[in-house]
Amino acid sequence: MNTDQSTIALNRFSRTLTQEVSNPAAQAMLYGVGLTEEDMQKPQIGIASTGYEGNTCNMHLNGLSVYVKQGIQSSGLIGLIFNTIGVSDGMTNGNDGMRYSLPSRDLIADSIESVVAAQWYDGVVTVVGCDKNMPGAIMAMARLDRPGIMVYGGTIRSGHYKGQKLDIVSAFEALGRKYANNISDEDFKGVVQNAIPGAGACGGMYTANTMASSIEAMGLSLPFSSTYPATHEGKQEECKKIGAAMRLLLERNITPKEIITRKSLENALTIVMALGGSTNAVLHYLAIARAAGIRLTIDEIQEISDRTPLLADLKPSGKYYMEDMLAIGGVPAVTKYLYQNGFIHGDCLTVTGKTVAENLEEAADLNFETQKIVFPLDKPIKPTGHIQILRGNLAPTGSVAKITGKEGLKFEGVAKVCEHESEIIEALSKGEILPGQVIVIRNAGPKGGPGMSEMLKPTSAIMGAGLGDKVALITDGRFSGGTHGFVVGHVTPEAFEGGPIALVQNGDRITIDATTRELTLHISDEELAYRKSEWQQPAPLFTKGVLGKYIRSVKSASEGCVTDEE
Ligand code: FES
Repeated sequence: MNTDQSTIALNRFSRTLTQEVSNPAAQAMLYGVGLTEEDMQKPQIGIASTGYEGNTCNMHLNGLSVYVKQGIQSSGLIGLIFNTIGVSDGMTNGNDGMRYSLPSRDLIADSIESVVAAQWYDGVVTVVGCDKNMPGAIMAMARLDRPGIMVYGGTIRSGHYKGQKLDIVSAFEALGRKYANNISDEDFKGVVQNAIPGAGACGGMYTANTMASSIEAMGLSLPFSSTYPATHEGKQEECKKIGAAMRLLLERNITPKEIITRKSLENALTIVMALGGSTNAVLHYLAIARAAGIRLTIDEIQEISDRTPLLADLKPSGKYYMEDMLAIGGVPAVTKYLYQNGFIHGDCLTVTGKTVAENLEEAADLNFETQKIVFPLDKPIKPTGHIQILRGNLAPTGSVAKITGKEGLKFEGVAKVCEHESEIIEALSKGEILPGQVIVIRNAGPKGGPGMSEMLKPTSAIMGAGLGDKVALITDGRFSGGTHGFVVGHVTPEAFEGGPIALVQNGDRITIDATTRELTLHISDEELAYRKSEWQQPAPLFTKGVLGKYIRSVKSASEGCVTDEE
């Protein structure tokens, strides 16, 4: 706690507006929005929602924010809802839209920071639901360092078609099957029309559920926030409990920087590894750590991966969906199991005002007789984490691979270079993607893309075409949490900056080796130097607007793609 409880004014920020005689305009506006004289004494909590109607990840968040507000008001606080942007990756339609996705994380962080600081709110609740919204919200909360809680909008329920459970990735994979002529037009339509049954974030252990689970483990959302599906009654109940939790945080002056510590970041990343989470978590935790003033490196993430077994059989590489976790005790039960076996730091503070260990006293025990989603530690799916940091002459400053072991630990093949994500879709439809190729998709990095697009469409299409275990893919872009297969992303330095990935030519031999953690381009140093001497940096695709600013400010993927550092 930051100060002695007896000295804390719960409205220590908002009182500047509500109590000082020199702020009549602000007070007039607050009376104008309906506050009473009594309300003017109360702490003010900004409720930041990324809700909007256009996609299922975010469509229900404004509604949840109303429940949050009710809980806040009934705890003697003032809740004031505001909105910020959110981009749904599932609706970005390839690079042109997708290049705005990762930048949106930092825009969300900037927006929440701006409103909460400018309007003198005493605390903030973020109600968020899609991949970038959560890290954006946490980055803002860390920068502001005022009492704060994140509410996850919740996972989606599964869709169904002809007895098959479906989710967003099913739609992309159906496209791959369409290219391979092994799905009828009727069934393709059936999958697309039934994959998404309503509100909620994509249902596997993709990026949204990865971030929600790990942020809960880090202590910044209430227990079970990541497990309740969006449409489950528990989600509304969670929202209503936020008021009491926020009051406690204000009274004890518990702020995000006390919760985001090296130990709690380790807890978060341990959950990412154990649950088989998204490679995007690497980017986002590098950035969250920096926002909290902690220098986390990709090599430290590798160390956590080395000591954490992959336990959960969740999609994309496994069988189950996040909604299935509810019946077995959810993320708290998994965290408890890991804590009892020494993988989780129990002494970290959380938004309940209790430690991780104290929260877990109420969690269920995993029953290994009856449930098959989480494997026991003595029989893990993989003895170490699936996220691997690879270096080598093709990625001197690092890259991130997702290796579950199902596709093997080593891949050697011949380069098939695509200068743009769209080329692979075209190549697939012409039958030019062949077994034994290492597909290199470049100019997709944070500056070159710009915006470091996800390769969801290419990887899903490769899977759908039945080539998932026959080709590998490397890119300076990134992967959706829905990606599986032999894939290496975040290759740094990126092509736009003259990284070796810019110098690969069709037919070069490439080895991806997860056992030695090397990404190797089999050409001589002299040849590599010659190609570099011939290379010319392309002109940036954008010089103005969001993407122009992003190109000028974004750091490398190995530094979390942060935009607010020199
Ligand atoms: Fe929003 Fe998947 S696209 S959670």
